[in-house]
Amino acid sequence: MPQLNSAPAARNDDASRAETLLLAIVNIGQLATFRGSGRLRTGAELREPALVRDAALVCEGSRILFTGPAAEMPSVPREAEVIDADGRAVLPGFVDAHTHLVFAGDRLDEFERRVRGESYEQITAAGGGIRSTVRATRTASEEELLELARGRFQRALRGGTTAFEVKSGYGLSIEDEMKMLRVVRRLREETGARISGTFLGPHAVPPEWDGRADEYLALVVEEMLPAVAREGLAEHADIFCERGAFSPAQARRYFAAAQKLGFRLRAHVDQLTESGGAILAAETGCTTADHLEQTGAEGIAALAAARVQPVLLPASVYALGRTRYPDARAMIAAGLAPVLATDFNPGSSPTLAMPMVLSLAATQMRMEPWECLTAATVNAAHSLGWGSELGVLEAGRRADFAIHDVRDPRELAYWFGSDTALATVIGGRVAWRRERW
Ligand code: NIG
Ligand code: FE
Repeated sequence: MPQLNSAPAARNDDASRAETLLLAIVNIGQLATFRGSGRLRTGAELREPALVRDAALVCEGSRILFTGPAAEMPSVPREAEVIDADGRAVLPGFVDAHTHLVFAGDRLDEFERRVRGESYEQITAAGGGIRSTVRATRTASEEELLELARGRFQRALRGGTTAFEVKSGYGLSIEDEMKMLRVVRRLREETGARISGTFLGPHAVPPEWDGRADEYLALVVEEMLPAVAREGLAEHADIFCERGAFSPAQARRYFAAAQKLGFRLRAHVDQLTESGGAILAAETGCTTADHLEQTGAEGIAALAAARVQPVLLPASVYALGRTRYPDARAMIAAGLAPVLATDFNPGSSPTLAMPMVLSLAATQMRMEPWECLTAATVNAAHSLGWGSELGVLEAGRRADFAIHDVRDPRELAYWFGSDTALATVIGGRVAWRRERW
Protein backbone atom coordinates (compact mmCIF):
# COMPACT_ATOMS: atom_id res chain seq x y z
CA MET A 1 0.00 0.00 0.00
CA PRO A 2 1.45 3.42 -0.90
CA GLN A 3 2.61 5.61 1.96
CA LEU A 4 2.34 9.37 2.05
CA ASN A 5 5.29 11.54 2.91
CA SER A 6 4.31 13.83 5.72
CA ALA A 7 7.42 16.02 5.40
CA PRO A 8 7.16 18.80 2.84
CA ALA A 9 9.46 18.28 -0.13
CA ALA A 10 10.26 20.38 -3.18
CA ARG A 11 7.90 19.92 -6.12
CA ASN A 12 10.10 18.83 -8.94
CA ASP A 13 7.94 20.27 -11.71
CA ASP A 14 7.39 23.70 -10.22
CA ALA A 15 10.18 25.00 -8.06
CA SER A 16 8.35 28.24 -7.24
CA ARG A 17 5.70 26.34 -5.28
CA ALA A 18 8.02 24.98 -2.67
CA GLU A 19 5.72 22.80 -0.61
CA THR A 20 4.40 19.41 -1.49
CA LEU A 21 0.67 19.55 -1.30
CA LEU A 22 -1.32 16.63 -0.10
CA LEU A 23 -4.85 16.48 -1.38
CA ALA A 24 -7.32 13.68 -0.82
CA ILE A 25 -10.75 13.33 -2.39
CA VAL A 26 -12.88 10.98 -0.36
CA ASN A 27 -16.40 9.64 -0.68
CA ILE A 28 -16.35 9.54 -4.48
CA GLY A 29 -19.48 7.79 -5.77
CA GLN A 30 -18.02 6.87 -9.16
CA LEU A 31 -14.44 7.42 -10.24
CA ALA A 32 -13.71 7.00 -13.95
CA THR A 33 -10.00 6.19 -14.06
CA PHE A 34 -9.79 5.18 -17.75
CA ARG A 35 -6.94 2.92 -16.67
CA GLY A 36 -6.19 0.55 -19.51
CA SER A 37 -3.97 -0.13 -22.42
CA GLY A 38 -2.03 3.14 -22.22
CA ARG A 39 -2.60 4.03 -25.84
CA LEU A 40 -5.30 5.96 -27.61
CA ARG A 41 -8.67 4.30 -27.67
CA THR A 42 -10.64 2.94 -30.60
CA GLY A 43 -13.70 0.71 -31.06
CA ALA A 44 -15.06 -0.97 -27.94
CA GLU A 45 -12.24 0.52 -25.82
CA LEU A 46 -14.00 3.85 -26.16
CA ARG A 47 -16.66 2.50 -23.81
CA GLU A 48 -14.31 1.21 -21.07
CA PRO A 49 -13.98 3.79 -18.30
CA ALA A 50 -12.44 1.43 -15.70
CA LEU A 51 -14.97 2.71 -13.21
CA VAL A 52 -14.39 2.42 -9.45
CA ARG A 53 -17.35 2.86 -7.11
CA ASP A 54 -16.97 4.15 -3.54
CA ALA A 55 -13.56 5.43 -4.40
CA ALA A 56 -10.86 7.79 -3.20
CA LEU A 57 -8.12 9.74 -4.92
CA VAL A 58 -4.96 11.01 -3.23
CA CYS A 59 -2.43 13.42 -4.74
CA GLU A 60 1.04 14.22 -3.60
CA GLY A 61 2.36 17.39 -5.15
CA SER A 62 1.35 17.53 -8.77
CA ARG A 63 1.03 13.75 -9.13
CA ILE A 64 -1.54 11.14 -8.24
CA LEU A 65 -0.45 8.83 -5.46
CA PHE A 66 -3.50 6.62 -5.25
CA THR A 67 -6.81 5.97 -6.96
CA GLY A 68 -9.01 3.05 -6.05
CA PRO A 69 -11.57 1.72 -3.61
CA ALA A 70 -11.95 3.88 -0.50
CA ALA A 71 -11.20 0.85 1.67
CA GLU A 72 -7.68 0.70 0.23
CA MET A 73 -6.85 4.38 0.58
CA PRO A 74 -3.55 5.08 2.36
CA SER A 75 -3.77 7.05 5.59
CA VAL A 76 -3.22 10.75 5.04
CA PRO A 77 -1.38 13.02 7.48
CA ARG A 78 -3.22 15.79 9.29
CA GLU A 79 -1.95 18.62 7.08
CA ALA A 80 -3.52 17.07 3.98
CA GLU A 81 -6.43 18.92 2.43
CA VAL A 82 -9.42 16.60 2.31
CA ILE A 83 -12.45 17.16 0.09
CA ASP A 84 -15.58 15.12 0.70
CA ALA A 85 -17.15 14.50 -2.73
CA ASP A 86 -20.38 13.36 -1.07
CA GLY A 87 -21.06 10.63 -3.59
CA ARG A 88 -20.32 12.71 -6.67
CA ALA A 89 -18.39 11.57 -9.73
CA VAL A 90 -14.72 12.30 -10.41
CA LEU A 91 -13.31 12.35 -13.92
CA PRO A 92 -10.00 13.19 -15.56
CA GLY A 93 -9.82 16.85 -16.56
CA PHE A 94 -11.07 17.51 -20.05
CA VAL A 95 -8.30 18.21 -22.53
CA ASP A 96 -9.74 20.81 -24.89
CA ALA A 97 -7.60 19.96 -27.91
CA HIS A 98 -8.82 22.66 -30.30
CA THR A 99 -9.32 26.24 -29.14
CA HIS A 100 -8.76 29.77 -30.37
CA LEU A 101 -8.61 31.05 -26.79
CA VAL A 102 -6.62 34.23 -27.47
CA PHE A 103 -8.44 37.04 -29.27
CA ALA A 104 -9.89 40.48 -28.67
CA GLY A 105 -13.41 41.73 -29.31
CA ASP A 106 -16.45 39.66 -30.17
CA ARG A 107 -18.60 38.97 -33.20
CA LEU A 108 -21.97 39.77 -31.72
CA ASP A 109 -23.05 41.86 -34.71
CA GLU A 110 -22.21 39.03 -37.07
CA PHE A 111 -24.11 36.63 -34.84
CA GLU A 112 -27.15 38.84 -35.20
CA ARG A 113 -26.69 38.98 -38.98
CA ARG A 114 -26.52 35.19 -39.12
CA VAL A 115 -29.68 34.94 -37.06
CA ARG A 116 -31.32 37.15 -39.67
CA GLY A 117 -30.22 34.81 -42.43
CA GLU A 118 -26.75 35.73 -43.70
CA SER A 119 -24.31 32.83 -43.85
CA TYR A 120 -20.86 32.58 -42.24
CA GLU A 121 -19.30 32.51 -45.72
CA GLN A 122 -21.26 35.56 -46.90
CA ILE A 123 -20.10 37.52 -43.87
CA THR A 124 -16.50 36.44 -44.51
CA ALA A 125 -16.74 37.47 -48.17
CA ALA A 126 -17.99 40.90 -47.06
CA GLY A 127 -14.82 41.49 -45.01
CA GLY A 128 -16.11 40.20 -41.68
CA GLY A 129 -15.50 36.81 -40.11
CA ILE A 130 -11.94 35.97 -39.12
CA ARG A 131 -10.70 39.31 -40.48
CA SER A 132 -12.91 41.18 -38.08
CA THR A 133 -11.28 39.42 -35.12
CA VAL A 134 -7.87 40.05 -36.71
CA ARG A 135 -8.56 43.79 -36.64
CA ALA A 136 -9.47 43.69 -32.95
CA THR A 137 -6.59 41.39 -31.99
CA ARG A 138 -3.96 43.46 -33.79
CA THR A 139 -5.09 46.53 -31.88
CA ALA A 140 -4.90 44.83 -28.48
CA SER A 141 -1.68 44.70 -26.45
CA GLU A 142 -0.11 41.49 -25.21
CA GLU A 143 -1.20 42.46 -21.71
CA GLU A 144 -4.82 42.99 -22.76
CA LEU A 145 -4.92 39.68 -24.59
CA LEU A 146 -3.46 37.91 -21.57
CA GLU A 147 -6.11 39.41 -19.30
CA LEU A 148 -8.86 38.21 -21.64
CA ALA A 149 -7.29 34.76 -21.86
CA ARG A 150 -7.11 34.53 -18.06
CA GLY A 151 -10.84 35.14 -17.76
CA ARG A 152 -11.59 32.46 -20.35
CA PHE A 153 -9.27 29.99 -18.64
CA GLN A 154 -11.19 30.56 -15.40
CA ARG A 155 -14.50 30.02 -17.16
CA ALA A 156 -13.35 26.74 -18.71
CA LEU A 157 -12.52 25.37 -15.25
CA ARG A 158 -16.23 25.42 -14.45
CA GLY A 159 -16.86 22.77 -17.06
CA GLY A 160 -13.99 20.62 -15.78
CA THR A 161 -11.39 21.46 -18.42
CA THR A 162 -7.81 21.35 -17.17
CA ALA A 163 -5.64 21.35 -20.31
CA PHE A 164 -5.79 23.16 -23.62
CA GLU A 165 -4.47 23.50 -27.10
CA VAL A 166 -4.50 27.17 -28.12
CA LYS A 167 -4.01 28.46 -31.66
CA SER A 168 -2.72 31.74 -32.99
CA GLY A 169 -4.30 32.91 -36.25
CA TYR A 170 -5.83 36.28 -35.44
CA GLY A 171 -2.56 38.19 -35.85
CA LEU A 172 -1.53 37.22 -39.40
CA SER A 173 1.67 39.28 -39.23
CA ILE A 174 4.92 38.15 -37.64
CA GLU A 175 4.61 40.52 -34.67
CA ASP A 176 0.94 39.83 -34.03
CA GLU A 177 1.21 36.06 -34.36
CA MET A 178 4.17 36.08 -31.98
CA LYS A 179 2.22 38.32 -29.62
CA MET A 180 -0.61 35.78 -29.49
CA LEU A 181 1.76 32.88 -28.90
CA ARG A 182 3.57 34.76 -26.13
CA VAL A 183 0.21 35.14 -24.43
CA VAL A 184 -0.22 31.37 -24.67
CA ARG A 185 3.20 30.87 -23.11
CA ARG A 186 2.50 33.32 -20.29
CA LEU A 187 -0.86 31.72 -19.57
CA ARG A 188 0.87 28.34 -19.32
CA GLU A 189 3.55 29.73 -17.01
CA GLU A 190 1.20 31.50 -14.65
CA THR A 191 -1.48 28.81 -14.41
CA GLY A 192 0.81 25.77 -14.31
CA ALA A 193 -1.69 24.03 -16.60
CA ARG A 194 -0.76 21.97 -19.62
CA ILE A 195 -1.34 24.39 -22.49
CA SER A 196 0.01 23.63 -25.93
CA GLY A 197 0.57 26.34 -28.55
CA THR A 198 -0.32 25.94 -32.21
CA PHE A 199 0.77 28.31 -34.95
CA LEU A 200 -2.12 29.11 -37.31
CA GLY A 201 -0.63 31.83 -39.50
CA PRO A 202 -2.57 30.51 -42.52
CA HIS A 203 -5.98 31.02 -40.91
CA ALA A 204 -7.08 33.66 -43.43
CA VAL A 205 -5.42 35.90 -45.99
CA PRO A 206 -4.97 39.22 -44.16
CA PRO A 207 -6.39 42.35 -45.82
CA GLU A 208 -2.98 43.77 -46.81
CA TRP A 209 -2.36 40.58 -48.84
CA ASP A 210 -5.81 40.52 -50.42
CA GLY A 211 -5.84 38.48 -53.63
CA ARG A 212 -2.22 37.41 -53.01
CA ALA A 213 -2.65 34.27 -50.95
CA ASP A 214 0.46 32.63 -52.42
CA GLU A 215 2.63 35.60 -51.50
CA TYR A 216 1.22 35.68 -47.98
CA LEU A 217 1.88 31.97 -47.67
CA ALA A 218 5.47 32.55 -48.77
CA LEU A 219 5.85 35.01 -45.90
CA VAL A 220 4.33 32.46 -43.53
CA VAL A 221 6.68 29.72 -44.70
CA GLU A 222 9.86 31.75 -45.05
CA GLU A 223 9.58 34.10 -42.08
CA MET A 224 6.81 33.32 -39.63
CA LEU A 225 7.34 29.57 -39.21
CA PRO A 226 11.11 29.91 -38.65
CA ALA A 227 10.59 32.79 -36.18
CA VAL A 228 8.04 30.79 -34.18
CA ALA A 229 10.33 27.76 -34.22
CA ARG A 230 13.34 29.82 -33.07
CA GLU A 231 11.48 31.10 -30.03
CA GLY A 232 9.93 27.70 -29.33
CA LEU A 233 6.49 29.29 -29.21
CA ALA A 234 4.43 26.48 -30.73
CA GLU A 235 4.59 22.71 -31.00
CA HIS A 236 2.04 22.37 -33.78
CA ALA A 237 1.30 24.03 -37.10
CA ASP A 238 -2.26 24.33 -38.39
CA ILE A 239 -3.94 25.71 -41.54
CA PHE A 240 -7.53 26.52 -42.53
CA CYS A 241 -7.99 24.57 -45.75
CA GLU A 242 -11.27 25.83 -47.23
CA ARG A 243 -12.75 27.64 -50.20
CA GLY A 244 -11.98 31.31 -49.57
CA ALA A 245 -9.09 30.46 -47.23
CA PHE A 246 -6.23 28.15 -48.37
CA SER A 247 -6.25 25.44 -51.02
CA PRO A 248 -5.04 21.84 -50.62
CA ALA A 249 -1.98 22.70 -52.76
CA GLN A 250 -1.11 25.59 -50.45
CA ALA A 251 -1.63 23.37 -47.43
CA ARG A 252 0.85 20.83 -48.81
CA ARG A 253 3.47 23.52 -49.31
CA TYR A 254 2.94 24.83 -45.79
CA PHE A 255 3.00 21.40 -44.14
CA ALA A 256 6.21 20.39 -45.92
CA ALA A 257 7.94 23.48 -44.53
CA ALA A 258 6.45 23.10 -41.04
CA GLN A 259 7.44 19.46 -40.82
CA LYS A 260 11.05 20.29 -41.72
CA LEU A 261 11.13 22.70 -38.80
CA GLY A 262 9.89 20.02 -36.40
CA PHE A 263 6.26 21.10 -36.01
CA ARG A 264 3.58 18.46 -35.61
CA LEU A 265 0.67 19.06 -37.93
CA ARG A 266 -3.02 19.74 -37.35
CA ALA A 267 -5.47 20.90 -40.01
CA HIS A 268 -8.87 22.58 -40.28
CA VAL A 269 -10.38 20.54 -43.10
CA ASP A 270 -13.73 19.73 -44.74
CA GLN A 271 -15.62 22.12 -42.46
CA LEU A 272 -17.90 23.98 -44.87
CA THR A 273 -17.09 22.22 -48.15
CA GLU A 274 -15.50 18.90 -49.03
CA SER A 275 -12.13 19.71 -50.56
CA GLY A 276 -10.34 16.41 -50.07
CA GLY A 277 -9.08 17.76 -46.76
CA ALA A 278 -9.13 14.49 -44.88
CA ILE A 279 -7.12 12.81 -47.61
CA LEU A 280 -4.70 15.71 -47.59
CA ALA A 281 -4.29 15.39 -43.79
CA ALA A 282 -3.61 11.68 -44.18
CA GLU A 283 -1.08 12.15 -46.98
CA THR A 284 0.85 14.94 -45.26
CA GLY A 285 1.29 13.12 -41.95
CA CYS A 286 -1.01 15.25 -39.80
CA THR A 287 -1.46 14.24 -36.17
CA THR A 288 -5.05 15.42 -36.28
CA ALA A 289 -7.65 16.39 -38.87
CA ASP A 290 -10.12 18.80 -37.33
CA HIS A 291 -13.79 19.53 -38.21
CA LEU A 292 -14.52 16.91 -40.95
CA GLU A 293 -18.22 17.81 -41.16
CA GLN A 294 -18.25 17.14 -44.91
CA THR A 295 -15.87 14.16 -44.96
CA GLY A 296 -17.21 11.02 -46.63
CA ALA A 297 -16.22 7.35 -46.71
CA GLU A 298 -13.09 7.85 -48.78
CA GLY A 299 -11.71 10.53 -46.45
CA ILE A 300 -12.50 8.44 -43.38
CA ALA A 301 -10.71 5.43 -44.87
CA ALA A 302 -7.66 7.59 -45.60
CA LEU A 303 -7.58 8.90 -42.01
CA ALA A 304 -7.86 5.36 -40.67
CA ALA A 305 -5.05 4.04 -42.90
CA ALA A 306 -2.76 6.89 -41.79
CA ARG A 307 -3.88 6.77 -38.12
CA VAL A 308 -4.78 10.45 -38.05
CA GLN A 309 -6.98 11.40 -35.10
CA PRO A 310 -10.23 13.15 -36.02
CA VAL A 311 -10.97 16.16 -33.81
CA LEU A 312 -14.72 16.70 -33.87
CA LEU A 313 -16.17 20.11 -33.03
CA PRO A 314 -19.96 19.85 -32.86
CA ALA A 315 -20.38 23.16 -31.03
CA SER A 316 -19.23 25.01 -34.15
CA VAL A 317 -21.84 23.22 -36.28
CA TYR A 318 -24.50 24.08 -33.74
CA ALA A 319 -23.51 27.72 -33.29
CA LEU A 320 -23.40 28.31 -37.04
CA GLY A 321 -26.93 26.93 -37.24
CA ARG A 322 -25.80 24.20 -39.59
CA THR A 323 -27.17 20.69 -39.57
CA ARG A 324 -24.45 18.48 -40.97
CA TYR A 325 -22.31 17.04 -38.17
CA PRO A 326 -19.24 14.87 -38.73
CA ASP A 327 -20.02 11.20 -39.22
CA ALA A 328 -18.62 10.03 -35.90
CA ARG A 329 -20.22 6.58 -36.14
CA ALA A 330 -18.51 5.86 -39.45
CA MET A 331 -15.23 7.11 -38.01
CA ILE A 332 -15.52 4.87 -34.97
CA ALA A 333 -16.51 1.93 -37.17
CA ALA A 334 -13.37 2.56 -39.26
CA GLY A 335 -11.23 2.20 -36.13
CA LEU A 336 -10.40 5.88 -35.64
CA ALA A 337 -9.67 7.37 -32.20
CA PRO A 338 -11.96 10.42 -32.04
CA VAL A 339 -11.32 13.56 -30.03
CA LEU A 340 -14.01 16.04 -28.94
CA ALA A 341 -13.15 19.70 -28.41
CA THR A 342 -14.90 23.07 -28.19
CA ASP A 343 -13.25 25.00 -31.07
CA PHE A 344 -13.78 27.99 -28.77
CA ASN A 345 -13.61 31.17 -30.88
CA PRO A 346 -15.71 34.33 -31.28
CA GLY A 347 -17.05 33.44 -34.74
CA SER A 348 -18.16 29.86 -35.09
CA SER A 349 -18.05 28.49 -31.54
CA PRO A 350 -18.41 30.90 -28.64
CA THR A 351 -18.34 28.30 -25.88
CA LEU A 352 -15.77 26.82 -23.52
CA ALA A 353 -18.18 24.29 -22.06
CA MET A 354 -17.03 20.74 -22.68
CA PRO A 355 -20.21 19.28 -21.11
CA MET A 356 -22.22 21.03 -23.84
CA VAL A 357 -19.91 19.53 -26.47
CA LEU A 358 -20.51 16.06 -25.01
CA SER A 359 -24.25 16.61 -25.17
CA LEU A 360 -24.06 17.66 -28.82
CA ALA A 361 -21.85 14.70 -29.66
CA ALA A 362 -24.35 12.34 -28.09
CA THR A 363 -27.55 13.82 -29.49
CA GLN A 364 -26.34 14.96 -32.91
CA MET A 365 -23.57 12.47 -33.68
CA ARG A 366 -24.85 9.46 -31.77
CA MET A 367 -21.68 9.02 -29.76
CA GLU A 368 -22.45 7.07 -26.61
CA PRO A 369 -21.78 8.89 -23.32
CA TRP A 370 -18.67 6.85 -22.51
CA GLU A 371 -17.37 7.32 -26.04
CA CYS A 372 -17.80 11.06 -25.58
CA LEU A 373 -15.94 11.05 -22.28
CA THR A 374 -13.04 8.98 -23.64
CA ALA A 375 -12.76 11.27 -26.68
CA ALA A 376 -12.60 14.36 -24.45
CA THR A 377 -9.98 12.95 -22.06
CA VAL A 378 -7.71 10.03 -23.01
CA ASN A 379 -7.86 10.49 -26.78
CA ALA A 380 -7.60 14.25 -26.58
CA ALA A 381 -4.50 13.95 -24.39
CA HIS A 382 -2.87 11.60 -26.91
CA SER A 383 -3.56 14.01 -29.75
CA LEU A 384 -1.31 16.55 -28.01
CA GLY A 385 1.44 14.15 -26.98
CA TRP A 386 0.27 14.06 -23.37
CA GLY A 387 -0.97 10.47 -23.40
CA SER A 388 1.43 9.28 -20.73
CA GLU A 389 0.49 11.87 -18.12
CA LEU A 390 -3.06 13.14 -18.77
CA GLY A 391 -6.46 11.57 -19.37
CA VAL A 392 -6.05 8.63 -16.99
CA LEU A 393 -6.36 8.72 -13.21
CA GLU A 394 -3.85 6.32 -11.71
CA ALA A 395 -0.76 6.53 -9.51
CA GLY A 396 2.08 8.45 -11.11
CA ARG A 397 -0.10 10.43 -13.51
CA ARG A 398 -0.51 14.16 -13.28
CA ALA A 399 -3.28 15.18 -10.86
CA ASP A 400 -5.59 16.96 -13.32
CA PHE A 401 -9.21 16.07 -12.65
CA ALA A 402 -12.63 17.43 -11.68
CA ILE A 403 -15.38 16.59 -9.23
CA HIS A 404 -18.66 17.00 -11.09
CA ASP A 405 -22.12 17.61 -9.70
CA VAL A 406 -23.39 14.25 -10.96
CA ARG A 407 -23.53 10.73 -9.57
CA ASP A 408 -22.90 8.92 -12.85
CA PRO A 409 -20.33 10.34 -15.31
CA ARG A 410 -22.66 9.60 -18.23
CA GLU A 411 -24.89 12.40 -16.93
CA LEU A 412 -22.39 14.86 -18.37
CA ALA A 413 -23.72 14.10 -21.84
CA TYR A 414 -27.31 14.04 -20.59
CA TRP A 415 -28.09 17.18 -18.62
CA PHE A 416 -27.13 20.02 -20.90
CA GLY A 417 -26.60 23.73 -20.89
CA SER A 418 -24.90 24.18 -17.56
CA ASP A 419 -21.41 23.84 -16.20
CA THR A 420 -21.15 20.80 -14.01
CA ALA A 421 -17.86 20.99 -12.12
CA LEU A 422 -17.85 21.47 -8.36
CA ALA A 423 -14.08 21.57 -8.11
CA THR A 424 -11.36 21.46 -10.74
CA VAL A 425 -7.86 20.36 -9.79
CA ILE A 426 -4.77 21.11 -11.84
CA GLY A 427 -1.42 19.64 -10.90
CA GLY A 428 -2.73 18.63 -7.46
CA ARG A 429 -4.05 22.12 -6.63
CA VAL A 430 -7.67 23.17 -6.47
CA ALA A 431 -7.76 25.66 -9.33
CA TRP A 432 -11.45 26.42 -8.96
CA ARG A 433 -14.14 25.40 -6.52
CA ARG A 434 -17.83 26.25 -6.46
CA GLU A 435 -18.61 28.28 -3.37
CA ARG A 436 -21.52 26.22 -2.11
CA TRP A 437 -22.26 22.64 -3.15
O1 NIG B 1 -12.41 26.46 -36.41
N1 NIG B 1 -12.67 27.53 -39.46
C1 NIG B 1 -11.81 28.31 -39.15
N2 NIG B 1 -11.52 28.71 -37.94
C2 NIG B 1 -12.45 28.73 -36.86
C3 NIG B 1 -13.37 29.89 -36.94
C4 NIG B 1 -12.64 31.11 -36.65
C5 NIG B 1 -13.49 32.33 -36.66
O2 NIG B 1 -14.60 32.37 -37.25
O3 NIG B 1 -13.01 33.31 -36.08
C6 NIG B 1 -13.13 27.41 -36.70
O4 NIG B 1 -14.34 27.26 -36.82
FE1 FE C 1 -10.94 26.06 -35.18
